[in-house]
Amino acid sequence: MDAKQNHAWSRIEAEAARLGKLTLLDLFTADPARADALTFEAPHITADFSKQRIDAPALAACDALAQAMDFAGWREKLFSGAVVNSTEKRAAMHWALRAPNPPSEVLETRARMAAFAQTVRSDINAIVHLGIGGSDLGPRLVLDALKPHRVAGIDVRFAANVDGSDVADAIEGLDPKRTLLIVVSKTFTTQETLANADFVRAWGPAHLGAATAAPGKAVAWGVPQAHVFPFWDWVGGRYSLWSSVSLCCAIALRDGVFDALLAGAAEMDAHFRDTPFARSLPALSAAIQMWNREALGHGAYALIPYSERLRLLPAYMQQLEMESNGKGVSRDGEALARSACGITWGAAGTNAQHSFFQLLHQGVEEIPVELIINAGEHEGPASHRAKVFANALAQARALMVGKQTDDSHRRFTGNRASTLMAIDALSPAALGALLAFYEHRTFTQAVLAGINPFDQFGVELGKEMASQLLPALEGGPAPVDLDASTAAWVRRLAP
Ligand code: F6P
Repeated sequence: MDAKQNHAWSRIEAEAARLGKLTLLDLFTADPARADALTFEAPHITADFSKQRIDAPALAACDALAQAMDFAGWREKLFSGAVVNSTEKRAAMHWALRAPNPPSEVLETRARMAAFAQTVRSDINAIVHLGIGGSDLGPRLVLDALKPHRVAGIDVRFAANVDGSDVADAIEGLDPKRTLLIVVSKTFTTQETLANADFVRAWGPAHLGAATAAPGKAVAWGVPQAHVFPFWDWVGGRYSLWSSVSLCCAIALRDGVFDALLAGAAEMDAHFRDTPFARSLPALSAAIQMWNREALGHGAYALIPYSERLRLLPAYMQQLEMESNGKGVSRDGEALARSACGITWGAAGTNAQHSFFQLLHQGVEEIPVELIINAGEHEGPASHRAKVFANALAQARALMVGKQTDDSHRRFTGNRASTLMAIDALSPAALGALLAFYEHRTFTQAVLAGINPFDQFGVELGKEMASQLLPALEGGPAPVDLDASTAAWVRRLAP
């Protein structure tokens, strides 16, 4: 760490020590205008950070760290297509997939997807989408979230897991003659996806399609060239939902919906690219995550969308944040002095209230909470909307205010931090903006920590070992150098 960075951290620690002596309610007493001052806007999103243990001097200290880490320089590198993924020598240009003037190969692929959607829709009543990780979580979330925007009569099934029950469920009850199989894999080498794809191809689906950065491999596997939709090595798997990876969305959502999603994301890109750190919603949100984790010692946060249609967001965010920033070394390969990533977990509210909110209110450790509400129209019974809002607001307030009583079992310490975010509607554009917001927040966290968020070598070792163990579990010889525990399990499980 250089002197500027050290100085910024000293400032952060001093501000955290100052604020540590105050409760959240003290902060509201000291500054009655705090709710307004700490509420920020970006396209389609309003975020209220006033129930976080921060104030203007604390955010200024975070800004100083951002400057010391060259936040503006790295953001410029990201948006200029420079090599920001240094270990893999790649740019990270997911933003270009939704830019108003995208590269020609992006436009061409999008036009091919739209044309394919038009022709295939009349031939099918089901799509089976096979992919895993970034080739699964994004389109699964988008289709679930935008259900009211779907075309009628096309069932979309997903399978990711190599546990055969997943793919068995995915084809159950479908007519292969009316099914499109889409194999989605950036590398087209992922064991789980190819195992599932071989199985479904043998079932005889009428149409085959693929989304991949390795088109030759998809063609060699049997997908007609005309149904192979490329994406590129400058699109990371967990940043790829804006690409052909979402072919099933382009088909199963009404015309224009996927474009609106891209346009909403582009609005957030412009906000992030053009707004100074002190007013940038993704940057401030990243600073607060870092602050909670590194300055205040809260290593996890709970992500609670108060929207059933966003129930898959926590799973999506687990990959985005933890696969991006779950790193132990800096860009230069030096061990980090501080953690770059916390633990993301959560579930949809209000269900989560009846599950793990006990821990959030009365557990020994504080876990900051991020609540998301849809401030626009809601589906279903009209009277439910106010109830959803009442619950979300009440939880954030209860976490902060607590309840004092002589009965320690019924006591709530309060003074627990939360952020309340509102999207202006559960529209395609707002969903695009929300997901782009999270991408940029993840990037900013990486910049603040000095790491590369775009590689994922941590997933490789387990994959390699699985390949080494597979022959023995299929009845072949076991590797000779196994530890005693693994060797015993191989003996127990081998046929
Ligand atoms: O789990 C590692 C990973 O490489 C993810 O980053 C990626 O999203 C997923 O596997 C799927 O990879 P592919 O799209 O190449 O099948």
